[in-house]
Amino acid sequence: MICVRNLTKQFGNFYAVNKVSFDVAAGEIFGFIGPNGAGKTTTIRMLATLLEPDDGTAWIDGLCIRTKQQEVRRKIGYMPDYFGVYEGVTVWEYLDFFARAYRIPVKSRNRIIEDCMALTDFSKLREKLVASLSKGMAQRLCLAKTLLHDPKVLILDEPTSGLDPRARIEFRSLIKELSNMGKTIFISSHILTELSECVTSIGIIEKGEMVVSGSPQEIARKMSSSATLRIMIGIHQGRRLAEAAQILKDLPKVQHVQEKQLGLEIEYQGQAEEVYLVLKPLVMADIPVVSVEQSTQNLENIFMNLTKGGLEE
Ligand SMILES: Nc1ncnc2c1ncn2[C@@H]1O[C@H](COP(=O)(O)OP(=O)(O)OP(=O)(O)O)[C@@H](O)[C@H]1O
Ligand SMILES: [Mg+2]
Repeated sequence: MICVRNLTKQFGNFYAVNKVSFDVAAGEIFGFIGPNGAGKTTTIRMLATLLEPDDGTAWIDGLCIRTKQQEVRRKIGYMPDYFGVYEGVTVWEYLDFFARAYRIPVKSRNRIIEDCMALTDFSKLREKLVASLSKGMAQRLCLAKTLLHDPKVLILDEPTSGLDPRARIEFRSLIKELSNMGKTIFISSHILTELSECVTSIGIIEKGEMVVSGSPQEIARKMSSSATLRIMIGIHQGRRLAEAAQILKDLPKVQHVQEKQLGLEIEYQGQAEEVYLVLKPLVMADIPVVSVEQSTQNLENIFMNLTKGGLEE
């Protein structure tokens, strides 16, 4: 649904976005993660056809962002990272204004506004002044606005920034609901854990470059090139631990062999699929391996490893 190829934006000599490529399949919730200044907003503004790329391009539902700007705008619902609402109007007037701007025909306009308000929990707040909304409600109203023209793709730039934990949870469940309705959702954040449980795929950007992209599991697997293995040896076989430790120390890709109660803990620098190569010499030497456990890295660790330093607040 979103296909990005070598997308590049320069400000003077500085590459804010440098040859970024990735794909988002239909129906995905794609988390676009990166520290402050990584190039998220710049990428998003190019996808939303508000900023012209210097090189490369992207297609949204097959439409090129450089040549089919009007058509792309009809496909997407874009929620910027700043809150630009007209404060002197009510919730209803605000949505009605944008529904007219989207040229939604008069006969369906009221029904569509009602539907959007129901989805975003505004039905009882239609007369409330926009100026009196809390930040969380205002963010939700912004989202309601982006849904009016029933876009296939939602592009949301840090929609949960500045929200309290409860409002964040509510926002996430709304995102899931929209995903269940069949929308493809592109959502940026600089906090990975905030998205890790609702996204189906992730791209991590740093200093204008895509560091890695894929499903959370894929990324975890790519990063599992350094994992901790716990190898348990049969009970009553304690005396064989030293022997097992010696065998492991001689293997390539194995570091930090430590004897623990009933087992060994090692740092293993190979692929997850090749763990058997570590176990094989043990088994060949008749060491009674009972179990092997691999500590999987969580996404937050991966993010910290991938984006070393350069974090500014
Ligand atoms: N109009 C501009 N002129 C010059 N430099 C810019 C402009 N817009 C963005 N930049 C620079 O490009 C880089 C990327 O900015 P961008 O806003 O895309 O980052 P971001 O990932 O959205 O960060 P944040 O998490 O703070 O929102 C930053 O170093 C920023 O200072
Ligand atoms: Mg930004």
